[in-house]
Amino acid sequence: MKLYEIIYVSTMAPATPVTAVPVILSRARQFNQANNITGMLVFDGLRFAELLEGPPDAVLELTERIREDSRHTNMEVVHHASVAERRFTRFSMGYVPIEEDDALAQLEQCEGPAAMQRFLDLIPVLDLGY
Ligand SMILES: Cc1cc2nc3c(=O)[nH]c(=O)nc-3n(C[C@H](O)[C@H](O)[C@H](O)COP(=O)(O)O)c2cc1C
Repeated sequence: MKLYEIIYVSTMAPATPVTAVPVILSRARQFNQANNITGMLVFDGLRFAELLEGPPDAVLELTERIREDSRHTNMEVVHHASVAERRFTRFSMGYVPIEEDDALAQLEQCEGPAAMQRFLDLIPVLDLGY
């Protein structure tokens, strides 16, 4: 099966309460599972970074829908590529809250494979059950 992956970084909108995050996650898990999309959402209290992977059309359509979501702004895709296999087979949408203030700001400055590496560096490998 053809697969596509993207990573974007965005900033939570000022009017969005932090309590929106579990609401977003529960909607994401439901939709993504139904549409064969997997991935990981990282949140630092201000910025989001999300990796989405799955069938190309589904990933691109979802990316554009997320872009329209007024709960965040400044969405920037930092990596997109066709891939042979998924990275996160166990998650319709995993979630990693992080404490570092500037890790996602730095990720936003990266592109392509460097952005992917930086994103993966944020994920605590032990929690993934490998
Ligand atoms: C940071 C962020 C990440 C999101 N990730 C997903 C996701 O992975 N899957 C999903 O279905 N919706 C996700 N959403 C929610 C979508 O933007 C949208 O609200 C949802 O798909 C429902 O769309 P609808 O209102 O057109 O039904 C995300 C929203 C935000 C702000």
